[in-house]
Amino acid sequence: MAEVVIVPTAQEAGGLVADAIAGLIARRPDAVLGLATGSTPLPVYDALRVRLAGADLSRVRGFALDEYVGLDPSHPESYRSVISREVVGPLGLDPALVRVPDGALEGIEHAGEDYEAEIEAVGGIDLQILGIGTDGHIGFNEPGSSFASTTRVKTLTEQTRRDNARFFASIDDVPMHCITQGLGTILRARHLVLLAFGEGKADAVAAAVEGPVSASLPGSAIQLHPHVTVVVDEAAARGLAHADYYRYTYANKPAWQGL
Ligand code: GLP
Repeated sequence: MAEVVIVPTAQEAGGLVADAIAGLIARRPDAVLGLATGSTPLPVYDALRVRLAGADLSRVRGFALDEYVGLDPSHPESYRSVISREVVGPLGLDPALVRVPDGALEGIEHAGEDYEAEIEAVGGIDLQILGIGTDGHIGFNEPGSSFASTTRVKTLTEQTRRDNARFFASIDDVPMHCITQGLGTILRARHLVLLAFGEGKADAVAAAVEGPVSASLPGSAIQLHPHVTVVVDEAAARGLAHADYYRYTYANKPAWQGL
């Protein structure tokens, strides 16, 4: 089962995950990070700025989870822009080593396959950061996504478009399609770290961690992975039936295990 770590604040979660990432980079200077967008991973990126100051990051690679289709890459809300503004720039990563799926309409038929080939060519993703949508999606794998899926074009649900409308002038400006790593792609990463904060995520977290494994709740795919860490605040942990056991386990965790 996933290791579930319940922390008082998102800031504390960011620090814990940043420590794990800094440790990974110290062990593997050419580490491959799976990068998520959205508001959830921001405390991780903030903490990483401090943890990685002065470290040699010249060989660190990154792969974003997803991108909107048909949105100009220079649009401030394209995930390419978001990743360069929130991760590549602040951390000082080499922009050439940080990839985002190509959402341009031209060539979109083979963009997914190309992205999979790029991930494979560098030996796969070491640590994948994940948020979760209120409908249980990870990446942009909406309910019903196959657990074997690879990077491909998907249609966003109305719910996801509504959730993401806050980043655009209106819901009509939120693209209808996206290109996202598949659940199969995500499950091939060597370590999954799923973060969630706030009451609004409590149902999705409980269903992903403790509910039946079902394509109807894409986040439940994490139950099939051998190394998953779920880091949540108290509000997002509200629906977890075994919260006391998770707290007890974490309090008694052998120090050598790390995250
Ligand atoms: C988007 C992203 C997901 C993210 C989710 C939650 O749909 N494609 O990767 O996990 O939103 O976003 P937030 O972290 O802002 O709640």
